[in-house]
Amino acid sequence: MTENPAMPTMLNPEWEERIVPERFAGQTVIVTGAGAGIGLATTSRILREGGRVIAVDLNTDGLGDLYREFSESLVLVTADLTDPDAIPDILSAADNRVDALVNNAGVMDNFAPLHEVTDETWQRVFAVNVDGMMRLTRAVIPLMLDAGHGSVVNLTSEAGLRGSAAGVAYTASKHAVVGLTVSSAFMYATQGIRFNAVAPGGVATGIKLPADMSESGAVRLGAVNANMPGLAQAAHLAASITFLASKDSVNINGAILPSDGGWSAV
Ligand SMILES: NC(=O)c1ccc[n+]([C@@H]2O[C@H](COP(=O)([O-])OP(=O)(O)OC[C@H]3O[C@@H](n4cnc5c(N)ncnc54)[C@H](O)[C@@H]3O)[C@@H](O)[C@H]2O)c1
Repeated sequence: MTENPAMPTMLNPEWEERIVPERFAGQTVIVTGAGAGIGLATTSRILREGGRVIAVDLNTDGLGDLYREFSESLVLVTADLTDPDAIPDILSAADNRVDALVNNAGVMDNFAPLHEVTDETWQRVFAVNVDGMMRLTRAVIPLMLDAGHGSVVNLTSEAGLRGSAAGVAYTASKHAVVGLTVSSAFMYATQGIRFNAVAPGGVATGIKLPADMSESGAVRLGAVNANMPGLAQAAHLAASITFLASKDSVNINGAILPSDGGWSAV
């Protein structure tokens, strides 16, 4: 327990990352939202496990230290995933070879319930969390079909599992991620491409909340979210994501994996 009851408990603080040497050797992995938080931790782990990473973000400054260490195997692509014109640049950075795709970039909403949500909030959240994910994956699938293999890991959320973790826009977008994942898992199941999703609970990252938070939504969600067992580290999520991205998850397709310290079991 933390000493300050207002501070969330940190889950599993004693845990240490165990690198699986060469798990991604010879593989190219695209990670979106790689500049911070969960995407940065995932990029770091894949590099240290021998993979080549195409790291995509609006802002790639946070990847500077990794780039100095892994300049041979890290390609930085500064791009806005809501821009369809960004897709060819990402594919060409990957030399049109993609063994795994981690669709991690995402943005939060302002907790607004449906009668309060604005078109701006709805469109901003869907543009990144759903449209950007769909477009990049659509472009990558033909490469994976040609290669006869591929693993796609999508970031959903606790909000993709139930209705009480965020506002309507984020909740609907993360349920859409579940739909993208299971439809694709079914459609490509016999062609060597696997689609899975990770549903984080609370994670200690710098993910931003908008300035215009809904008071009614925050009050309603606050009561339920007090059940959250605690906050995970970004590296905890990287452990779940890299498992699904790697061939260790060879027989797993269409899974929505809660990585939340048990929050979804409440
Ligand atoms: N942090 C949490 O508690 C939590 C909980 C559940 C789900 N998630 C999900 O996990 C994923 C990662 O979250 P995080 O906490 O690491 O967030 P973060 O804000 O720390 O990092 C997300 C990264 O995505 C990038 N990004 C955002 N929009 C982009 C765009 N249009 N084009 C390119 N890059 C863009 C940002 O610049 C940022 O570097 C998101 O999909 C989020 O919804 C996070």
